[in-house]
Amino acid sequence: GLRCLVTGAASGIGDAVARALIADGAEVVSLDRNKPTADVASHIEIDLADPAAIDAAVAEAGSGWDVLANVAGVPGNAPSETVFRVNFLGLRHLTESLFERMNPGGSIVNVASIAGFGWPQRLETVRDLLTTETFDEGLAWFREHRPEGNAYNFSKEAVVVYTMAMGGAVREMNELRINAVMPGPVETPILADFEESMGKQTLDGVRAFLGRHATAADIAPAVEFLASRSSGWINGVAFPADGGITGAVMAGLV
Ligand code: NAI
Repeated sequence: GLRCLVTGAASGIGDAVARALIADGAEVVSLDRNKPTADVASHIEIDLADPAAIDAAVAEAGSGWDVLANVAGVPGNAPSETVFRVNFLGLRHLTESLFERMNPGGSIVNVASIAGFGWPQRLETVRDLLTTETFDEGLAWFREHRPEGNAYNFSKEAVVVYTMAMGGAVREMNELRINAVMPGPVETPILADFEESMGKQTLDGVRAFLGRHATAADIAPAVEFLASRSSGWINGVAFPADGGITGAVMAGLV
């Protein structure tokens, strides 16, 4: 079975991803600030807002990993800097710290969001962010250039563009693949926070259009597919797992 690291495995989508991988015979190690309830092989405490804590967790995790599923995230009603630290800077720092500790042919899967859908309008800004190389440089960039609007959306745009850009760097990253899933609204503990930060009306509108919100179990198979060897030639892609809302928007229907 695959040897998998899953961040955010203590709740919601990460919990569903961990359970799906375990059911498929994978060895799953949880990386979260909280203890998971899924039957993981082991749990490593991590604070993705803190690069030193990430380094300590990476040292504890060792090497020989096939999959890194970056699922952990915080919603937009948390302080902007925390959102940016956890959702982008911590994700990038963890990912890059693991390049040499993962097995060639392995897969990195990032859970972004359809909230990152606006990346083409902010590509220049995100590319400028991506010229920073470390967590601290990225943080200094954020403090100086703080983009307009919700830090959550920007953090997810950064994850999407980072994913696409790194797909083209496969030779420099130990032959690993990297892809992202962009969920629409999912019934997890943070959905109530999204109502606060994005507006209940927007979320109700999406639910009315699709008939329901997703469950975490709706999202896990997309992550699992990108983690598996069967998606071996899919690289640098960010695709929606949103019941159809992005497609409808792109086709000009809503
Ligand atoms: P959740 O709140 O159920 O789970 C988030 C997990 O991340 C928790 O286990 C939490 O302990 C962990 N976490 C948060 N901050 C951390 C930190 N500093 N260090 C280590 N672990 C930390 O939320 P959910 O819904 O499962 O979210 C998972 C991912 O899916 C997030 O990246 C979120 O942005 C994304 N997403 C969620 C959507 C939704 O509607 N629920 C929609 C689109 C994307």
